Amino acid sequence: LSKIEIKLSDIPEGKNMTFKWRGKPLFVRHRTEEITAEQNIDLSELWDPQHDKDRITNPTWVIVTGVCTHLGCVPITNAGDYGRYYCPCHGSHYDASGRIRKGLAPLNLEVPYYEFPDEDTVIVG
Ligand code: FES
Repeated sequence: LSKIEIKLSDIPEGKNMTFKWRGKPLFVRHRTEEITAEQNIDLSELWDPQHDKDRITNPTWVIVTGVCTHLGCVPITNAGDYGRYYCPCHGSHYDASGRIRKGLAPLNLEVPYYEFPDEDTVIVG
């Protein structure tokens, strides 16, 4: 399937759910307390500098592909030095916006195209 429809009320606050989309893992995280912290990070600290607002349409929902940008392993969710996504293959740490913060990965986790047709639904693809 080229598109996937996800019911957002199935994902509790603070939790990540993993879906399969176009043969890849898709991470959807219901953010809460980390929103402000992510929006205030100094971009000069990042080696793939992207503001949270440029990656995230709705600050409550982080939607990224679960493919490490180093060599393509699947990161573990809620893990790593930044507490959100950690790739165990060679130790890359991503923050709550899916941005690379430490390790060998060169780029942030990819943000796919998505839209919210209503408050409880996101369609990815
Ligand atoms: Fe993720 Fe190497 S594949 S750190």
